[in-house]
Amino acid sequence: MLKIIPGEVSVPDFHQYLLGTVSPRPICFASTISNDGIANLAPYSFFNAFSSNPPTVVFSSNRRVAGNTTKDTLHNVEANGEVVINAVSYKIVQQMALSSVNYPADVSEFDKVGLTPIASEMIAPPRVKESPVQMECRVNRIISLGETPGAGNLIVCDVLCMHVEESILDVEGKIDPHKIDLMGRMGRAFYCRASGDAISKIHRPVTVIGIGVDQLPDSIRLSTVLTGNDLAQLAAVPNLPSQEEVQASLKELGASIPDDPQAKHQLAQSLIAEDNVVGAFAVLL
Ligand SMILES: Cc1cc2nc3c(=O)[nH]c(=O)nc-3n(C[C@H](O)[C@H](O)[C@H](O)COP(=O)(O)O)c2cc1C
Repeated sequence: MLKIIPGEVSVPDFHQYLLGTVSPRPICFASTISNDGIANLAPYSFFNAFSSNPPTVVFSSNRRVAGNTTKDTLHNVEANGEVVINAVSYKIVQQMALSSVNYPADVSEFDKVGLTPIASEMIAPPRVKESPVQMECRVNRIISLGETPGAGNLIVCDVLCMHVEESILDVEGKIDPHKIDLMGRMGRAFYCRASGDAISKIHRPVTVIGIGVDQLPDSIRLSTVLTGNDLAQLAAVPNLPSQEEVQASLKELGASIPDDPQAKHQLAQSLIAEDNVVGAFAVLL
C-alpha cells in the first residue's frame, strides 16, 4: 500500500488524497451578505450535518493554499453570523461551479451565475430560488483550525428554518432522492449525480441483531465464490433458517441444486442478489 504522511507530500497533493477518499461530499451552497449589502454565493463541500436536535450543520472555509488568504464567505459570517445553505441539484451544478471563481468581494455571484436571490424569512442573506432546499442558519461559532495555508475554519450553524420545494417529495411527503437529484463533490474535478442507477437501497434495521459472519458455517464463510457483501447479507439474519424453512424454500425454487460446490455457491450468490437470502441458505445448507 502507498503510505502518505502529511508533511512529507505537498499540501495540494495531500489535499487531493484526502478529497479523493472523503468522497462524495455533499455541497453547501452558501449565501451570505456583506455589511455593505453585497450578496455572496459560494460552494463548500467540507460540509455535513452533525446533529438533528439541536439541528446543526457545519462547513469549512479554508485558507487558500496560494497566498494564505481567507474567503468572502468567512468574512461575511464573521461580520454578521448569518448564512443560507442551499442544496445543489443537477439542474444548477454548472452555476454552482461558476460561483466558485474568485470574483471580487464587491461583485455578487448571484449576478455572475444567473441565479435568483429571494428574501429569507429569518435572516438577511437571500436564498437561491432555483435550489430545491434552502436552510436559513445562524452561526453558532467559528472554530479556526490554524493560520497555515489550507487550514480550515469550521462554521458551525444552527438551522433556523428549512424551505423544501414540494416537487421533490414522494407520496409520503419524504424527500425523494431521485427528485432532489443532488450532486456530490469528489476528488479533483469529479462529481457524482446522486439519482438513477447511482442509488441503491439497503434495509438493515438496527434492532434486528444478525448472527454475524463468525457464526456462518465454515462451508459458507470460507467460500471462494461468495464476497464479503454476500456473506454480510447472509450474516444479517437473526437465526439460521430452520429445516422446514429450507425445505419450503427449496420447493419454491424448484431448481435442482448443483453438486459442484462452485456452481452451488454461484447459484446462492445470484439468489442473494435477488434479495432471496432464505433461498440462498437453502441452496448452501
Ligand atoms: C464543489 C466545490 C466545493 C468547494 N468546497 C470548498 C470547501 O469545502 N472549502 C473551501 O474553502 N473552498 C471550497 N471550494 C472553493 C470555494 O468555493 C472558492 O474558494 C470560492 O471562491 C470561495 O468564495 P468566497 O470567497 O465568495 O467565499 C469549493 C469549490 C467547489 C466548486
